[in-house]
Amino acid sequence: MAARGERGVMEKLVSLCKRRGFIFQSSEIYGGINGFWDYGPYGVALKRAVEALWWREMVEFRDNVEGLDSTIICHPRVWEASGHLDKFGDMMTDCRSCKARHRVDQMEDPSKCPNCGSDDLTPPREFNLMMKTFVGPVFDEDHAAYLRAETCQPIFVDFHQVRITGRQKLPFGIAQIGKAFRNEINPRNFTFRSREFSQMEMEFFCKDEDSMRWFEYWRDERLRYYREFLGFGEDVLRIHDHGPGELAHYAKAALDIEFKFPFGWGELEGVHHRGTWDLSRHQEFSGESMEYFDQEANSRYIPTCVETSVGVDRTVLALLCNAYAEDTAETKKEGKCEDERVVMRLPGLVAPVQVAVLPLSKKLAESAEKLYRAIRGRGFRSEFDITGSIGKRYRRQDEIGTPVCVTFDFDSLEDGAVTLRDRDSMGQERVALSAVGDVLSKRLGGTL
Ligand code: GAP
Repeated sequence: MAARGERGVMEKLVSLCKRRGFIFQSSEIYGGINGFWDYGPYGVALKRAVEALWWREMVEFRDNVEGLDSTIICHPRVWEASGHLDKFGDMMTDCRSCKARHRVDQMEDPSKCPNCGSDDLTPPREFNLMMKTFVGPVFDEDHAAYLRAETCQPIFVDFHQVRITGRQKLPFGIAQIGKAFRNEINPRNFTFRSREFSQMEMEFFCKDEDSMRWFEYWRDERLRYYREFLGFGEDVLRIHDHGPGELAHYAKAALDIEFKFPFGWGELEGVHHRGTWDLSRHQEFSGESMEYFDQEANSRYIPTCVETSVGVDRTVLALLCNAYAEDTAETKKEGKCEDERVVMRLPGLVAPVQVAVLPLSKKLAESAEKLYRAIRGRGFRSEFDITGSIGKRYRRQDEIGTPVCVTFDFDSLEDGAVTLRDRDSMGQERVALSAVGDVLSKRLGGTL
């Protein structure tokens, strides 16, 4: 039974994430801090797998995309040039009665407080989302700096550096994974809208006349990625094309890839045609040429950019929502005892633990551990689990989404084989020790 859409799924998921060490509130012992989340052992393993998969598919497997790891704090002029200091804000209003603060575009009736119903609201005013800090010992405006609000701006700033050292010609892309910060007015829906989050962005530079073809190419590539690697079906993915009214003045096209979260459809990724806006602005503000010399055409011009931009945390949240399921399991071998189980049907390639090795008895620990080390040595994220009954251990592995459990029993010593238990079907298969690595590879889609 898939649990998506049922009331309370988010509450169950949030509680599982805390109980099993995926995600929990930052600074919890101090009462937490709104919009900030920590990833525990399984959460960080999942998050790193998501990043590794994206990096592999977007950078390592492509000859025409280069990587970058830039600083979080840049020269403050970067954010003047990008327009963030001027325009990057939401309209908000305060309720004079209950003191709650709301984003106007998220209010059903902008004349009434959604919290207490009062109509005593302040006039809407703009609220800038950039997080400010100071660099150096003097805390004044001359030393003000900002935590980046998107990872792509340094990509534009470093355009020539990366192009020259990467020996790239148009068309080519530059990709980065890293933290971004936004002082969101209303962080909500678990990690969906956080104040500190990570983005995976790729800026693809091309000739303007080819840009719509690349826009369509990247839309299709990104959709393929979600279907093929993350297992998102047609029922949970859709495209929202930005209409003329939603487009930035410099953009020819933009779309959101949306995911169906338990709280409704929400943006997972944006594919944006950014025109020549960013490079032109950095040229204007820095006084440095951002033009590209096209040898074939013997002309200089500012390349057009098509961007793919997705949040790591949102991808992790989508994966967790898509994975959450409840069904019944047999806790005894003969099927005498059935109980409800929670199972996280995470894709094998990104599951925090891909394989758990479970010796049936403590007496088998030594031989089983040998096998565990061999499996781990092949690059699978693995766990050796020896405590509790076998049924309890399966339940625990189901809850953290381990696709395959390898059970080492007394027969294994005799027949040189182990039992592979499939998380989703709970089916069991006897496999020779010599074949375990290849069978796992096939079932899990490999390693990252
Ligand atoms: N460079 C373009 C850009 O940043 P965006 O639509 O503002 O575009 C891109 O953000 C992606 O970053 C979103 O689709 C989402 O996955 C993620 N994201 C944005 N704001 C976020 C937030 N407050 N919390 C978590 N993820 C966020």
